Amino acid sequence: MIKEIKVNPSYEVVIEKGVLKKAGELLNLDRKVLIVTDEGVPKQYAEEVKKQCKEGYIVTVMQGEDSKSITTFEALLKVMLLKGFTRKDAVVAVGGGVCGDLAGFTASCYMRGVDFYNIPTTLLSQVDSSVGGKTAVNLGDTKNIVGTFYQPKKVLIDSETLKTLPERQISCGMAEVIKMAACMDKEFFEFLETADFMENIEEIISKSVGLKGNIVQQDEKEKDLRKVLNFGHTIGHGVEVNTDLLHGEAVAVGMMLVSESPVKERLEKVLDKAGLKTDIEIDEELKKRIIEAMSHDKKTGNGKVSFVKIKEIGEFYFEDTDLDKLEEVF
Ligand SMILES: NC(=O)c1ccc[n+]([C@@H]2O[C@H](COP(=O)([O-])OP(=O)(O)OC[C@H]3O[C@@H](n4cnc5c(N)ncnc54)[C@H](O)[C@@H]3O)[C@@H](O)[C@H]2O)c1
Repeated sequence: MIKEIKVNPSYEVVIEKGVLKKAGELLNLDRKVLIVTDEGVPKQYAEEVKKQCKEGYIVTVMQGEDSKSITTFEALLKVMLLKGFTRKDAVVAVGGGVCGDLAGFTASCYMRGVDFYNIPTTLLSQVDSSVGGKTAVNLGDTKNIVGTFYQPKKVLIDSETLKTLPERQISCGMAEVIKMAACMDKEFFEFLETADFMENIEEIISKSVGLKGNIVQQDEKEKDLRKVLNFGHTIGHGVEVNTDLLHGEAVAVGMMLVSESPVKERLEKVLDKAGLKTDIEIDEELKKRIIEAMSHDKKTGNGKVSFVKIKEIGEFYFEDTDLDKLEEVF
């Protein structure tokens, strides 16, 4: 199946099995190209891209969130400078959201912006982080605090790359898929309730890219509507920083905590099908720490925390809660 989805302002997301082998045909790689990947991404993906470049340089950063740093950003810029990259050259990310955010940020800053292509290889980056043009690095413990809105020239999604991705990472990507379906698309949610995820993965990816693309098209700079994508994230972030759960796993817990019956039961079943456990024990101490994290959340404004809630599957609304009433939320 070949799918091409147009995302605002006018770049394409190409979803096709084996599309990695067509990078040279679909992207302009006839120049200097910095290929940013990490140690956890199987080497063959970046090498496949390099083969198709006129002058490709692979930089492999350490895997994990720590690579989204000013230090790594600086190191990438230095490679570009040393190799004589000009404004006409390009950067390609080959990896998950860490590589995408870091490489996109670097591309947006070098010489005030060079072309950026994204080849996401985790399910989360394919359905979520590669769409919307947000780039970022962290500053100390503060996530995504330094960044830009910078749209890629093109995104290539090859579902074959998911074959090497650990199951736990697939589950994390599915948490974001389920989030978008629950908030915005009843039919898609019903499909997820019955369909085999991996057998239908391309359809799931293209539907999710379409949903996120539609939201960012209407609200490129996160003024209002784009906040729907925070469903489960407000509490989820607090859970993530205080437990050893991965982001998607914590978001799943967050979605459950702000949902009510009968949405909650349906949500739980689909999350469970995706391998996401949502019944973690939250004692008073953990609750206190989650509330503290929520109070520091960057989405907080005017002494209130903004929550996304679901009225019924496919319909969301925003609810602001006073900081001193957070205890009552869950
Ligand atoms: N820009 C956005 O809009 C946006 C949205 C959501 C999340 N994010 C960011 O995305 C990041 C998380 O992304 P992620 O979940 O993709 O994590 P990640 O990039 O850390 O990847 C997860 C792990 O999978 C490995 N990996 C990647 N592709 C693989 C493959 N095909 N086979 C085997 N292993 C593979 C990586 O090496 C890593 O260890 C966070 O930094 C988050 O802030 C950004």
